[in-house]
Amino acid sequence: MDQQKSLEANAGMQKKLEQLENLRRKVQAGGGAKRVEKQHGAGKLTARERIDILLDSGTFVEINAFAGDSDIDNLKNPGEGIVTGYGLIDGRKVYLFAQDFTVAGGSLGAVHAAKICKVLDLAMKTGSPAIGLNDSGGARIQEGVDALNGYGEIFYRNTIASGVIPQLSLIMGPSAGGAVYSPALTDFIFMVQSTSQMFITGPEVIKSVTGEEVSMETLGGALTHNQVSGVAHFMAESEESCLAMLRQLLSYLPSNNLGEAPEQQPVEPPGNPEELLRIIPDNPNQAYDVREIIRLVVDGGELLEVQALYATNGLIGFARLNGQAVGVVANQPKHLAGCLDINVSDKISRFVRYCDAFNLPLITFMDVPGFLPGTAQEYGGIIRHGAKLLYAYSEATVPKVTVILRKAYGGAYLAMCSSALRADVVFAWPSAEIAVMGPEGAVNIVYRNEIANAGDPAAARANLTAEYRAKFANPYIACSRGYVEDVIDPRDTRARLIKTLQSLATKREKMPPKKHGVFPV
Ligand code: HXC
Repeated sequence: MDQQKSLEANAGMQKKLEQLENLRRKVQAGGGAKRVEKQHGAGKLTARERIDILLDSGTFVEINAFAGDSDIDNLKNPGEGIVTGYGLIDGRKVYLFAQDFTVAGGSLGAVHAAKICKVLDLAMKTGSPAIGLNDSGGARIQEGVDALNGYGEIFYRNTIASGVIPQLSLIMGPSAGGAVYSPALTDFIFMVQSTSQMFITGPEVIKSVTGEEVSMETLGGALTHNQVSGVAHFMAESEESCLAMLRQLLSYLPSNNLGEAPEQQPVEPPGNPEELLRIIPDNPNQAYDVREIIRLVVDGGELLEVQALYATNGLIGFARLNGQAVGVVANQPKHLAGCLDINVSDKISRFVRYCDAFNLPLITFMDVPGFLPGTAQEYGGIIRHGAKLLYAYSEATVPKVTVILRKAYGGAYLAMCSSALRADVVFAWPSAEIAVMGPEGAVNIVYRNEIANAGDPAAARANLTAEYRAKFANPYIACSRGYVEDVIDPRDTRARLIKTLQSLATKREKMPPKKHGVFPV
């Protein structure tokens, strides 16, 4: 008798389970086979395919899959054009959303926005990174102001979460209009060549308003935003490599501002440290690639460069020293002689603030002849932009270690994390030149009369320049004042940095209580 009852109940449940599975299959099919085919034809993966590649195998847990349509027999927009949930990357929990372009073009309506807000809220509550895979036609036109409000709710959350959890945006299709501002409020933007675009107003609107003709790719493609505008931070050739890059970036980041980045087994850099003695040319006006130095110093020679194609006169990126993740900043003498200009000031100061927010020590390699002169820079506000660098380094309380490789002139010397801006330790290589300005410029000002009155002005200038260089353009005056802690053999750089970071591991520094400062944006 009891057996019979139980079989009846199972049969009822069986039917409901079939309905559930049927519904889940419908939701998982997104916009259907035809639209999936179109998506593949456009060189793009579907939202679920992207999630599968991004996360550790089998770890994805979907949330609110059935949000939206209440008529379950006639789903209009399965999943509301978005897949949300959580899973693991290298064993660490992340929350994510992936817009599904096969459903109403991934356009954002009220429920779609609510699903994004929910994962952002959960990421905040649990101190986990939030990842957005963006592929959307923007505000769902049919939903009018509710769609706009949905964006507003997301922007607010992005702002509140800034500096608390890492927020990472992958652009894997169109991102147009005000919709670009959610990625712009997050920490890092990844773009895929040929298939992703970001712009406020598209080519058609531009043509009708200004007459200018421009393609989607030239206007807002991956190369444009990685090289020209500086909006994006990483560029990938394919969606697969873009997702792999994101996993790589996460390996350097803590899950939240109270955590530590995961440590890895230390790996010695490849190459012979003796090579460090040959990279800086004897001629101080000759360029070299600062990457060669960094690769001989950091674990495994590995540097994950951020904004590698933008403002190339400076370099920023993540690396490890003795297994510990660090932020690396360097001047790049190969471009604009490593001068500081508007764009590089923005690039470096944002990165410094990022590392400070997420407890990553800052290692700065300095070789800077000064701020870039010229009306273009002055009119563009180099004073305001350069100030960001001073502000960001001054404000940063993480361990800060600076290595002066060669030139350290004027205000730019101060700006690149000098002892005055509270670098904890400043080392100099014997090749360092620390002074108010370079020998040529200084001699022309200080010895103007002597040179003018000399029988052979050119020879006099050359002699005085050599004299000045010998007397002032070295690290020992700064060392004698305590501005530089030690002049080190370049071959010892890695060992000294590791020891210094170990000594600073317990560093605690508090800023005076205030609501917030006024960053010179
Ligand atoms: C509703 C949309 C949509 C939208 C696309 N679709 N965008 N539905 N609202 N915003 C639908 C299409 O009708 C189509 O439905 C499907 O998605 C795929 O779109 P296609 O046009 O066929 O795809 P494609 O040719 O690849 O072109 C993609 C596109 C184009 C370039 C993104 O769809 C487009 O221009 N969409 C409108 C973009 C836009 O102006 N959005 C508003 C931006 S302003 P079917 O059923 O035919 O498959 C904005 C404000 C945000 O977002 C403000 C925040 C503050």
